[in-house]
Amino acid sequence: MTAKERPTVIWLHFAECTGCSEAFIRSSYPWIDELVLEVLNVAYHETIMAPAGHAAEKSLHEAMERYKGKYILVCEGGIPTADGGVWGKVAGRPMIEIAKEAAKGAVAVMAMGTCACYGGVQAAKPNPTKAMGVGEALGIQTINLAGCPPNPVNAVSAVVQFLLLGRTPALDDYGRPKFAYGATIHDKCPRRAHFEEAEFVKRFGDEGAINGWCLFEMGCKGPDTHNNCSLVKFNDGTNWPVGAGHPCLGCSEPQFWDNMAPFYTS
Ligand code: SF4
Ligand code: SF4
Ligand code: F3S
Repeated sequence: MTAKERPTVIWLHFAECTGCSEAFIRSSYPWIDELVLEVLNVAYHETIMAPAGHAAEKSLHEAMERYKGKYILVCEGGIPTADGGVWGKVAGRPMIEIAKEAAKGAVAVMAMGTCACYGGVQAAKPNPTKAMGVGEALGIQTINLAGCPPNPVNAVSAVVQFLLLGRTPALDDYGRPKFAYGATIHDKCPRRAHFEEAEFVKRFGDEGAINGWCLFEMGCKGPDTHNNCSLVKFNDGTNWPVGAGHPCLGCSEPQFWDNMAPFYTS
């Protein structure tokens, strides 16, 4: 497909750590080179594109103009809103202004990661910059790919579903696609039988840990966390947190930095 025929994505970075982009470039269904060069037309993405500085700004404005009314806007990061948004700027402009302008020309806005969905770590108490998710900051419905980071499989699936059906996938009360966030980690966990048998890891490295027992007593938040990590895994299906012996931190839930803490206590 030529760039004209491929669906266009403009990807903006706000207040974030770029971990969501790091996860995205490890996409394997399809691989990232195929995704970027053959499936999508990624017209702007600060991490993977060549231009920088003024040239990058020019690229962004050219892309927004050229693909107006046709592009999917992907946002990574929360948006600081205190004091007119002065605590988060790119090229001298508050992120909230950039987001508003870019969202106007988009057919859909996708929030990539818990920062973009709900504010993320920037929004943790006491949240001095009044950071919030893109949807809340702009007063619009975003497709929320929650997770810190989210799984690129779910992001690609949401884009493909939107393009094929021409509408947003069914979303839950927190704006997350139900196909990926409809069940809890606990519902689909391979350690669940150990939970039912009250076989718990008590300490990292103990006999229970070696035998793959349940991590509930190590603070696992799987019972309260909606995501499909055990089914799709990360890094080409290599593994996922609980599979690697670490409790789920609840990273796809709103305000998990506050609501799920302390992470290592059940
Ligand atoms: Fe980083 Fe997590 Fe925010 Fe993604 S959601 S930008 S991985 S802190
Ligand atoms: Fe549930 Fe966590 Fe135990 Fe898995 S490890 S069964 S998600 S409490
Ligand atoms: Fe996040 Fe828990 Fe999955 S910490 S990556 S939702 S296992």
